[in-house]
This record gives sequence, C-alpha cells and structure tokens, in this order.
Amino acid sequence: MTEAKPVWNRKHLLGLEDLSATEINTILDTADSFKEVSTRSIKKVPALRGRVVVNAFWEDSTRTRTSFQLAAQRLSADTIDFSEKGSSVSKGETLIDTARNIEAMGTDVIVIRHPAAGSAHLLARSVRSCVINAGDGAHEHPTQGLLDLYTIRERFGKIEGLKVAIVGDIAHSRVARSNVWGLTKMGAQVILVGPATMVSKSFEAMGARVTNDLDSIIGQVDVVNMLRVQFERIKSSQFPSVREFTRMYGLTWDRFQRCKKDVFVMHPGPMNRGIEISSDIADGPQSGILTQVTNGLAVRMAVLYLVTQAQGA
Ligand code: CP
Repeated sequence: MTEAKPVWNRKHLLGLEDLSATEINTILDTADSFKEVSTRSIKKVPALRGRVVVNAFWEDSTRTRTSFQLAAQRLSADTIDFSEKGSSVSKGETLIDTARNIEAMGTDVIVIRHPAAGSAHLLARSVRSCVINAGDGAHEHPTQGLLDLYTIRERFGKIEGLKVAIVGDIAHSRVARSNVWGLTKMGAQVILVGPATMVSKSFEAMGARVTNDLDSIIGQVDVVNMLRVQFERIKSSQFPSVREFTRMYGLTWDRFQRCKKDVFVMHPGPMNRGIEISSDIADGPQSGILTQVTNGLAVRMAVLYLVTQAQGA
C-alpha cells in the first residue's frame, strides 16, 4: 500500500480558520521532519537556496521574528529584515507600496506582522510573493497556533479528545483565535476563560465553550494556556485591579494545586510574571513555554517550505 501524499497547495498562510485538519496535519508532520535538522551538527538544508524571505514587522516581536529569520536561514534562504521603525513608513508610504518596493528586489516570501486585522489578507491580494501572517491585530497568529498544536501533540501523542483551557485576555488575543480554530478542527475541546469584559459569548460560534469561572474548570483540563494581559491594547479598565485579575484568573500556585497532576502549562509569551502566571509554574517542570519556542522554529521551517513548494518557487 502506498502512503497518502501530504496535502498542501496554498501559497499563503493567512490563518487557521480556512485550513482543514488534513492541511494542519501536513504542517505538523512536515515540522517533525524539520525538527530533526536542528539536532544535526550542521543545522542547515538547501530547500530554499536562492530564495528570498522578508520579515516585515510593523509591531515589536522577539519570538516570531527571530524564529522566522532562523527558520529561513536553516532552509538556506537569503533574508531581509524590515521594521516599520526607521523606514519610509514615517514619510507616509503605505503598507502596499512598502511591500511592492521590497518585492521589486526579488522576494519570494513576505512574513508580515501588523497591528491591523486583515493586513496579511490585503497584502496577499497585492503582491506576487507568498504571504505568511505573523500576527494581524487581534485577528490571527497562525504559526503560534500551529506551534501550540505541535507542542500539545508532542506532549500527549494526540490532540483529539483533550480539554484545553485558554485563559485571560481573550478579547485582544490573536493567539486565542488561532488556537480555537486549530484545536477544534483537530478534535480538542476548548474552554475560553476570562472576565466578561475580556471574553464574550460570541466566541461560542467558533466552537469553544466560554466561562467566567476559572475555578469551576481548572481541575478538568489537560492543558492550560495562559494569555498575556495586553495592557498596551486595553483602552479602558476591564477589571477592578491587577491584583483582582490575578486572584480571579491568574495561574497562582494555589490554583495550580487544583489542576490535574499532569496538567501541561503553556503561554505564548511575552509573560507578565506574577500577573497571569506565577514564576514558580512558568519555570517549573510542567511548563512547556520554552518548548513552544523551540518547536516554533521547526513549524516555521515547515510553513516556509510548504508555501514555497505550492508557489512552485
Ligand atoms: N508569541 C509571540 O508572538 O511572541 P512575540 O510577540 O515575541 O513574537
């Protein structure tokens, strides 16, 4: 019997909402192959030799930006690092004009992070390069969602049937949205938890359960994914005080004692230590936080490889 051929024919990765479970599995399986590359003494393969990958970031980033850069370099691509800060955007140049001018130098892939939801979709309609969404406003962060899926699958050997709580500032979180799309497609149960000001019942239309009571579900879940409170995006007070938020929704040591004994703790970073998660837990043996970052490299290598193959680049 011949093995089924992996399914992937998209030249852009804009979100997880549109992907099928088969496509997600193709990315995760491809990431498995690329993870092995990082264990070699020479951590490089020629898959994207002669290709040009642009990191175009209109927002700050530590993990996503460096991970895409290293992923492209491990695939032997040439890389361009573009930041809005210090660019001609300050002179009024638009997103599309900026991208088209960089593309005129002969790029194959544009990785974009931008504060506006929909910016990656707009770019994909305006350039001939492959476009990868590295986070667009509060909309999606598909490679974070994929690396979270990969890390959960690696830890449990499966995703289907697991209960995953995503906790905190859901309203501002593109990570939460990509996780909900990805996890539900892969057969996990997702519970979104936060104050009513930060998680509305409208998320139930995405296939998740919504609750405002963390203590009522904390003992039932296999994975708890704590989100950063995005203070920079909060326009008006959404909880009485930071201390109150931590008391109700923080992964404190006391609350952690009431979790399943093998609960897996995740956080996309950057963390507000002592607010949404206690340092003892973030740095403890059940934390997968740095494993998420390690796996992000393999997942981003897989995504860069698959989109360029689909483009026929
Ligand atoms: N998780 C994440 O997207 O982190 P950065 O903002 O540092 O890229």
